[in-house]
Amino acid sequence: MTASKQRVCGVKRTIEGMTVHDGAGVRLNRIIASPQLNHVDPFVLLDEFRSDDPNDYIKGFPWHPHRGIETVTYMVHGRFKHEDSRGGGGTLSSGDVQWMTAGKGILHQEMPGQTDGSMWGYQLWLTLPKADKMVEPRYQHLSSEDIPVVNEGDVEVRIISGEFNGSIGPAQTWFPISYFDVRLPDGAAFHHHPKPGMNFLVYVHTGSVVIGSGDGASEIPMGGLAILDDGIEVHATGGSEKNGFLFLAGKPLNEPIARGGPFVMNTPEEIEQAWKDFYDGNLF
Ligand code: FE2
Repeated sequence: MTASKQRVCGVKRTIEGMTVHDGAGVRLNRIIASPQLNHVDPFVLLDEFRSDDPNDYIKGFPWHPHRGIETVTYMVHGRFKHEDSRGGGGTLSSGDVQWMTAGKGILHQEMPGQTDGSMWGYQLWLTLPKADKMVEPRYQHLSSEDIPVVNEGDVEVRIISGEFNGSIGPAQTWFPISYFDVRLPDGAAFHHHPKPGMNFLVYVHTGSVVIGSGDGASEIPMGGLAILDDGIEVHATGGSEKNGFLFLAGKPLNEPIARGGPFVMNTPEEIEQAWKDFYDGNLF
């Protein structure tokens, strides 16, 4: 093993999200799937919706299709209702996660379950492996109380998927994915040894976080997405009074990615077919 493989991960690149309006006019911070950052294999989209102003979220995401991906909705705070073309539905409340496998195709709508107050959450899209693009759709509703929260000193780690210090998140995934929400005060440090061969991301949602150690450390302010470089250990230290970040690790699929709106497939022909199936009423 070379020295570089033993080291603490540094930051390869930092990106800020951009404001977009999607759905029927929801104001979003688009972090992945922007002109700056198309994707980080296997993550093909990351949106943050976070506002105290109902005008930013009230119109929601009326009926629309998906194929070839999983959509993972994490409600930090607030309520969203969902309904789908197969008769499924439910409400996501603070701390809940909906892990939806769109597979061969589903239509759904995602509408706010509140008309005032603050709304804060994330939607992440994972591209499905070529062999699983056309699987039957499925939902996993993960209630807040089913999501383990590990406290290590002053560091709190909410484990949506993957393993942290012996605790395992409840989401079933098609390939290894870790998804944590980490909260830590000033000076407290998160240490993690992820599985090798994964792509690692840190999105700072609160305060600021110092990634890496010694000369290789970089401070990432709130709103920054850090793509980490290769290493075997992730160090993240709180840089202000109250700090928090999403930690994502995913096994890259190394397959071609073709996107078309709500569809992510491997070729442009498959995107064309998805639109055809949608307009022909065969996608649900
Ligand atoms: Fe959707």
